[in-house]
Amino acid sequence: MKLLLSLLSALLPFAAPAQPAATDMVKDWENPAVLGINKLPYHATLQLPSRWKDCHEIVSLDGQWKFRWSKDPASRPVGFEAEDYDVSRWDDITVPGNWQLQGFGRPIYVNMQYPFHRDRPSVTGEPDKSWYAYDHRNPVGSYVTFVDLTKEQVARHLVLHFGGVHSAFYLWVNGQKVGYSQNSMSPAEFDVTPYVREGRNRVAVEVYRWSDGSYLECQDMWRLSGIFREVQLWVRPQVHIADYRVHAEPAADYSRADVTAVIAVSNAGRRSGNLKAVLKIDGKTVEERVGWLDGGDTVRVNLACVLDRPRLWSAEKPHLYPFSVELQDKQGRVIEHFDYHLGVRRIECVGEVFKVNGKNVKLRGVNRHDHHPVTGRWVDDQTYEQDLRLMKQANINFLRTSHYPDREYLYELCDRWGIYVMDEANQESHGYGYANHEMGEDPAWRDAHVDRAVSLVERDKNHPSVIMWSLGNEGGVGPNMKAMHDAVVALDSTRIPFCDTDRSQSAIYDDGYLSPNRLRDGARKVTDRPFMMREYAHAMGNSMGNLQEYWDVIYADSSICGVAIWDWVDQGLSDKLKGGSDGSFLYGGDFGDQPNDGPFCINGLVGPDRVPHPHYYEVQHVYQPLTFVRDADGQIRIINRDQFTAPDEYDITRDTVTVAGERLLNVAARLKADQPWAPKGFAVASEQFVLQPYAYRQTLDGVPAQVQKTAAGLVVYTDRGTVTVAPDGALTFGYVCSGAAAAHLEPYFWKPENDNQHAAHFAERLAVWRDAMDKRTYKSFSTENGADGLRIVNVTTLPVGAELELTYTIAKDGRIKVDMDYRPTTGTDIPLIPKLGMRMRLPADMTGIEYYGRGPWENYPDRKRSALIGRYTMPLSEYETDYIHPQDNSCRTDVRWFKIGNNETTLRIDGLQPLCIRAWDYGEEDLEPAKHPCEIQRGRFVNLNIDLNVHGVGGIDTWGQRTLPQYTIDGNKPYHYGFILSWQ
Ligand code: GAL
Ligand code: MG
Repeated sequence: MKLLLSLLSALLPFAAPAQPAATDMVKDWENPAVLGINKLPYHATLQLPSRWKDCHEIVSLDGQWKFRWSKDPASRPVGFEAEDYDVSRWDDITVPGNWQLQGFGRPIYVNMQYPFHRDRPSVTGEPDKSWYAYDHRNPVGSYVTFVDLTKEQVARHLVLHFGGVHSAFYLWVNGQKVGYSQNSMSPAEFDVTPYVREGRNRVAVEVYRWSDGSYLECQDMWRLSGIFREVQLWVRPQVHIADYRVHAEPAADYSRADVTAVIAVSNAGRRSGNLKAVLKIDGKTVEERVGWLDGGDTVRVNLACVLDRPRLWSAEKPHLYPFSVELQDKQGRVIEHFDYHLGVRRIECVGEVFKVNGKNVKLRGVNRHDHHPVTGRWVDDQTYEQDLRLMKQANINFLRTSHYPDREYLYELCDRWGIYVMDEANQESHGYGYANHEMGEDPAWRDAHVDRAVSLVERDKNHPSVIMWSLGNEGGVGPNMKAMHDAVVALDSTRIPFCDTDRSQSAIYDDGYLSPNRLRDGARKVTDRPFMMREYAHAMGNSMGNLQEYWDVIYADSSICGVAIWDWVDQGLSDKLKGGSDGSFLYGGDFGDQPNDGPFCINGLVGPDRVPHPHYYEVQHVYQPLTFVRDADGQIRIINRDQFTAPDEYDITRDTVTVAGERLLNVAARLKADQPWAPKGFAVASEQFVLQPYAYRQTLDGVPAQVQKTAAGLVVYTDRGTVTVAPDGALTFGYVCSGAAAAHLEPYFWKPENDNQHAAHFAERLAVWRDAMDKRTYKSFSTENGADGLRIVNVTTLPVGAELELTYTIAKDGRIKVDMDYRPTTGTDIPLIPKLGMRMRLPADMTGIEYYGRGPWENYPDRKRSALIGRYTMPLSEYETDYIHPQDNSCRTDVRWFKIGNNETTLRIDGLQPLCIRAWDYGEEDLEPAKHPCEIQRGRFVNLNIDLNVHGVGGIDTWGQRTLPQYTIDGNKPYHYGFILSWQ
């Protein structure tokens, strides 16, 4: 083991004494050499977060504080820390929280630029006049709270702990300046013993929205400020446990593990000691004398023991050894006691292969921002549990804490429930460009980089779930990255150091957002280390196509250790924050924030409210640990992707379902026992096989209806009423109930874009199709009495250089068979067809849906593996997906039949082959201009698109990559499809 805690003292250089602020001096918050003043060294989370509430050493200061917001430093209430400064008329603010979400100033969403004038280390230069920062040149939040302490408490060692404050702050206690801190996503601690007194104590905190630290915090997220994590007063013995690290090193054959504990004991009082440091684990107690310590001294006590035949920790089997570390006096009385847990596992890169406990584990990952739609950067325990429960249920086994350390409890849950973690340092200087030299090489910024690496490792080093230390995201290249890397490795050599921008500082070769083919080729080329994509499958809006294509590549190459989806949760903010009440979620620009990047923060597998999107289920399916294959002889074979779990640890269930003559076999692997994240019986993996295929109808078998030529076209008389076919082929039903409302059917080829398609220029490339049907020209019309109905054949010419032939076969009883033939004629370079088929408008109240096809959730040709064929019933409102940024939605593929109706009537559609059906209570023209679902004009009609095929959603990125060709519709090929309409 490398030197662990000895770096503690090396970290002290910035623990300079507090100095009186002189106005002409360089400001601490615009000085990269000042990272903190009087901060205590970083250390491990001493007590398991789930036990904080019961830890008698912790006094929580969370709650309502007094607050004053100022738009810039010049207008802040100077001197508010003084004991006689009256704050009784100040506002109230909830701590933890972000001030912008409590009515003070504006949240700003930007991706990769600094929302203030870029001129490091200054954050107060003059930006563009349109920017929020122009008039708000670094807002300041001044906070005051009071805490009552007893005589016994003030006699102890008191440490004030801030879990996270954005972006920089000063602290005063009882009017006296205690210190200063930046590095917003890591804890800041101060020894406040000298400043406190019995009775009421006044705590004053002055927080700056921007600081030089902000140059390293240019992450793609809402830029929010304030005291956003817990504030705790630790009331501790003078001699106390300052830090500890407990590590288990498994033997080569895993027959035993050597446990080593390094416990740092500090004396904050007078010379004393003669104590024991104690480690209790697995029924064993190991102890060692601490000896006498002078005031201010720290010693490190080493303890060791052996675990025989240890049960190993992995994400699949997260076995933990609970342990405690204690300080005891000579008589064995406990002076201090902390509970934690240990996982025995080995993480290594062996050549090109990443291994956990000697096995080639695949990381099925996701990136996650610490985001809550109401409380912003403060994410409560229940939301953490909900997130991790949903991740585990989606078979996600790898989490990147993009792009900074999260709150401590998240890591405890990952330890307990089993998720591998890439723990990321709060370092991103993206405003200077990806892999920039400015920040990567400037020696003045070296310590600022290293501080962020050290704080990361020191806090989280005891979590078995942490398997990789990431130096940050989209920052610099050069010596500053090397300094971060070296600091990380010096502190902990048992995890893997990772860097995206500077590959010379990364044990894993990373690239992002490659297509499946480029992933395959890239991984082949790199031979000196494992390959991964820290980000892939940009899940913005309606997305996540071609996920299986990625995994076919990943499973075929043992050097690809894994990938992580961008990202977990839509970073939408509740409209309640702006006084709204319709449940919308807001994104960049909605708060009048300038500059902003619009909806680019809405990229989640789940909504801000954690409701899974349809593509969440595709992830669940493709990430499943077991794959079922049906061999030619009908036997079901299981391919196990896991390394530490056997298929027989699940209940394998088989259900045969017969719907309309089609026989389906549904196979699932189910949990045999309750897990903290899912109940017994939960399907961890599933697959469907068609045993007896569906027999699609081909003929109408009807008696021909009567037809008459009129000026409007052909009028057909059926038992249900009249049907009109216009010369352009459009068909109108004259008899649909609900009074005057008519139903109208016509060819239609346009599909609005989804987010993935916008930068890929879908609308421009495929533009000819937008109004191809409006510009179609009449060519011929013919009628005849066919064997199974009246046949009307209509031919039109499409302006793209193709011909469209529509054949309506109409039976006297009102049933209609529709056949469409698309034939390219003169065209040779016809663009891809957005969707091939027809569109129907129905009366607005026909909103009850029942269908037999893939579901229940939305699915597209390139995203349908998770959606099993079945019979589903739902209202139109559930059939639709209201994306936060409105876009194409609601497709169901492989539809055999579909019914839609109201109380009086139902339209039934029977495919002559599988259909794709999209249904909305609005038109394409209503959807396309809308920026939020509440702006869509709804309810005038029901809009049904009945298609042979639809352009896939795409699944690579949202900045130019196109949908894979196999999921598009070539305009230069002929197509035929059809369906039968009947009214019931
Ligand atoms: C990545 C970046 C993420 C996010 C994503 C796009 O390159 O690391 O933070 O910006 O692009 O949504
Ligand atoms: Mg970025």
